[in-house]
Amino acid sequence: MKKIALLGSVIAFFAINTFAAENQELIKKAKEAGLEPIPSGKELRDYQLKKVKEIDLATGYNPKLTDAQIELGKKLYFDPRISSSNLISCNTCHNLALGGVDVVPVAIGEKWQKNPHHLNSPTVFNSVFNSVQFWDGRAHHLGDQAQGPIQNPVEMGAKPNLVVEKITSIPAYVDEFKKAYGNKVKIDFKLIADTIAMYETTLVTPSRYDDFLNGNPKALSKGEQEGLDIFIDKGCIACHNGINLGGTMQPFGVVKPYEFADVGDFKGDANGMVKVPTLRNIAETMPYFHNGQYWDVKDAIKEMGAIQLGISITDAEAKKIETFFGSLTGKKPLVIYPVLAPVTNKTPKPVF
Ligand code: HEC
Ligand code: HEC
Repeated sequence: MKKIALLGSVIAFFAINTFAAENQELIKKAKEAGLEPIPSGKELRDYQLKKVKEIDLATGYNPKLTDAQIELGKKLYFDPRISSSNLISCNTCHNLALGGVDVVPVAIGEKWQKNPHHLNSPTVFNSVFNSVQFWDGRAHHLGDQAQGPIQNPVEMGAKPNLVVEKITSIPAYVDEFKKAYGNKVKIDFKLIADTIAMYETTLVTPSRYDDFLNGNPKALSKGEQEGLDIFIDKGCIACHNGINLGGTMQPFGVVKPYEFADVGDFKGDANGMVKVPTLRNIAETMPYFHNGQYWDVKDAIKEMGAIQLGISITDAEAKKIETFFGSLTGKKPLVIYPVLAPVTNKTPKPVF
């Protein structure tokens, strides 16, 4: 009896060791395939600062990612009064309680208008790790990006001078800008957008997948590891790589056209390239693709195999990849809902 138990534990010992060794192999394979963890600690801070410097604030400002700058950016992110109606904030379409999205196929903005190209709102979480922003990659950094939706008539519909007038009519905001950038600060539209962008650089969501890539083989379940292995072997990593498993411009419809290409008129950039969406938090950011046509991620996975790689992915394989995707759901930063100072008599009134 004792001998059998001993034999059992010896076998278990070897089994565990082989499993651990295989795991280390998979970690190596994933890294060689170009998958990278979210940096942590000082490395993350340096990364965020580097991105903030790229924002290229109006000369004379020192974007240091101080607590005052981040907190102010957060207030602006949540403040619907920077829209013309006083109803739409960045958080309306990029809801931080909902994986950074709105969970509708097509973005809805001012006056209940749909995005004219039938575009779906991408997540803001981890957008700092994208090499370009927007589905057609037309913005190179988050500061540039943030100027777009505020002015877009179908999103927040506010002209730059209106936004500046609204913000500067609220004394508490003026004080906060001084706290963030010094007493001589000139509050202009660019600084407002850049400050929001600074807050966005903090919206990063590390997950167990990062622990795994950082060398902890136990961080992913066996099923998740199987899914990761398939994801690599099928060739998804050709485009879904780097920290975000996406974020670069790539061809779309390589082998054949996308099934719902006709919903909306989006055709990518001038060369037909599309910004690869991040797969981080993919289990929360449905519906999928630029025009939001798939609700079940397994269908999106199978469509990818067919149109991008010319392979057919079985239901069982799609299910395993979906299991792996579950490990990409990250820990969200704690967001304390900001209290915003009231409007004054000088504040321009909302327009509907
Ligand atoms: C009406 C909904 C709506 C509002 C409001 C809105 N966005 Fe967006 N956002 C979108 C859509 C749709 C896209 C994709 C548009 C495109 O590619 O042309 C987008 C794209 C983005 C991206 C690019 C992400 C990526 O992966 O390419 C970022 C970052 C972003 N928005 C941040 C913001 C910020 C900051 C605000 C507030 C100033 C804001 N958005 C307001 C709908 C919205
Ligand atoms: C040739 C590059 C390329 C390859 C290979 C590729 N993808 Fe994609 N993937 C993209 C692009 C580009 C998009 C965005 C397409 C769009 O919506 O216009 C995308 C979108 C997705 C989406 C939807 C994400 C969202 O938030 O809307 C999923 C899921 C996905 N890919 C999974 C996979 C899987 C799984 C594989 C392997 C079977 C794969 N992809 C292979 C480039 C690629």
